Amino acid sequence: MSYPFQVRSMEQYEKAYKASVDEPEAFWASVAENFKWRKKWNKVLEWNFTEPKIEWFKGGKLNITENCIDRHLETLGDKPAFIWEPNSPDDRVRVVTYNRLHKRVCQFAQVLKNNGVKKGDRVCIYMGMIPELAYAVLGCARIGAIHSVIFGGFSAQSIADRLDDAKAEYIVTCDGAFRGGKDIPLKSVIDDALIGNKTVKRVIVYTRTRTPVSMIKGRDVWWEDEMEYAETQVEKDGIVSFSAEEMDAEDPLFILYTSGSTGKPKGVVHTCAGYMIWTTYTFVNVFQYKPGDIHFCTADIGWITGHSYIVYGPLSAGATSVMFEGIPTWPDAGRFWDIVDKHKVDILYTAPTAIRSLMGFGLEPLKGKDLSSLKILGTVGEPINEEAWHWYDENVGKKKCPIVDTWWQTETGGTLISNLAGVTPAIPSWASLPLPGVQPLLVDENGKEVLPTPSENGKLIASGNLCIKFPWPGILRTTWGDHERCRQNYFAAYPNLYFTGDGALKDEKGNYRITGRVDDVLNVSGHRIGTAEVENAINMHAGVVESAVVGYPHDIKGQGIYAYVVFGPKHGDEDLTRKDILQTVSRVIGPIAKPDKVQFVPGLPKTRSGKIMRRILRKIAEGEISNLGDTTTLLDPAVVEEIKKGKI
Ligand code: WT7
Repeated sequence: MSYPFQVRSMEQYEKAYKASVDEPEAFWASVAENFKWRKKWNKVLEWNFTEPKIEWFKGGKLNITENCIDRHLETLGDKPAFIWEPNSPDDRVRVVTYNRLHKRVCQFAQVLKNNGVKKGDRVCIYMGMIPELAYAVLGCARIGAIHSVIFGGFSAQSIADRLDDAKAEYIVTCDGAFRGGKDIPLKSVIDDALIGNKTVKRVIVYTRTRTPVSMIKGRDVWWEDEMEYAETQVEKDGIVSFSAEEMDAEDPLFILYTSGSTGKPKGVVHTCAGYMIWTTYTFVNVFQYKPGDIHFCTADIGWITGHSYIVYGPLSAGATSVMFEGIPTWPDAGRFWDIVDKHKVDILYTAPTAIRSLMGFGLEPLKGKDLSSLKILGTVGEPINEEAWHWYDENVGKKKCPIVDTWWQTETGGTLISNLAGVTPAIPSWASLPLPGVQPLLVDENGKEVLPTPSENGKLIASGNLCIKFPWPGILRTTWGDHERCRQNYFAAYPNLYFTGDGALKDEKGNYRITGRVDDVLNVSGHRIGTAEVENAINMHAGVVESAVVGYPHDIKGQGIYAYVVFGPKHGDEDLTRKDILQTVSRVIGPIAKPDKVQFVPGLPKTRSGKIMRRILRKIAEGEISNLGDTTTLLDPAVVEEIKKGKI
């Protein structure tokens, strides 16, 4: 049986969906035929969610970079793989053709090899958004090294923790990165992260900002020197070659750290074949990609969105991917629109927080910008409110572009629930229907499925915790170095189900509306931050006795971080102390985790057994002071009154 790789009508969607449920192995085998394999798989799928054990295309051999690059060279060699837009609009745009990408990736793969990197070794990448970041990622994949990209907003301490967890021996970084009006001294952060580190053998440093850096003999080398030498090794008589490592379908491709409800981020592990198939399939179907389309995903490669929809998905589909070094509001709030106009972008994929922030600048920045190339718009990362949806639809898409609201997670590799552009209906603020292969359901606290029942407005609606009952190729396989943690986190809450951590509504047609996290994870500007992590960081400040962190609705960020802090014997200025606490969080996690509000409180509301009643703190932070529910089980109800009085 053969199924079309791209579904182009509602009817085809329904057929594909049904086939993916009725005969998943035949369905995915048919999809997998669209890729380049060194050796075909023995078994399409083996799984159980109890261990969990999930294996897709076991026995199959491939290299993802041959799928993302080599297989396109004959037909698309001179077409752009990347169009790179620099931070400053006055700097030179770089166009990286597939041929050029092939050469650079081969060269960098050779550099890694020359520096002792072998298949299975962990390489930590801490760079700005420049083409070299993509070369580094793909260079690792080419030799089978496991990359672990760390977003530039994380601190030295966070990097040190991740290096230690992954036992990484190699780092690729830059002297610095340009972001808006700022230069971020990346290498110097790495140097701090390496104080006391005993595993890292080599740091490869690319020059971007020409910030002075310390280069330690025997450990640190320059990217440029290494690449120049490697060029003589991989290029002979004008022909570039570096044979890719043959990988098993289930060999790890990368680790990406993400926050959960405990204090320590987990290393989500994705494997070669399943991830490749999932990112490509979802890219082509959700955005209804047509050959020649220019795709602009505004995320950072430090997050999963950038991995899947700037690098792997688009390249594997042979698309042109726009990579932007800067930020949407610098030098002015028209930057995205300039990029769309300049590069004739067809597909624009961004975050609700970016849309809301740009909305705040009004329509002026859009004036005179030709957005007529746009065909499809997308959002990701958090629920989109209707106001932002309509603004995007009217002012950016001019009511002509379908908007896809793509729901997914670091752990899912690619989109699980979304409308397919122009193929299945878009409903503002609803992610809508599951992709083929995805079998969601809503459950109550006891794991019992909840089905749509009549709601206040007469419509049939279900509300519950969002789970998935069958594996899709892009599901995480484990958390690095701790499989039990993976089981506990995702597969233990409800037997035989993957639990997403999100709450959702479902209507009678099977559409889903994601309402947000139901665990102690915050979504701040689309960045995932664990409350326990922020609390740990605050508690490291010498004067802090204890703290509790909750989220509250924030007009632009979606959620803001509200910290209640019990401080020891006070000394000095309260405002300065507050700044000291922010500085501590910046040091321990990174500037992205800084609380928006810090309230000093005499104590925290606790039950008699000592558990913090977060429900009450959340309500106060949300401003719902009059309706706090039952407080009689509190050890000291008076503390709630004090907290209410001091609310900021
Ligand atoms: C969490 C995952 C997916 C890549 C970026 C974030 C929230 C994501 C949506 C959406 C409502 C969404 C969920 C999810 N989320 N997309 N379209 N509508 N909520 O990846 O850092 O792993 O965060 O982001 O709460 O669990 P992440």
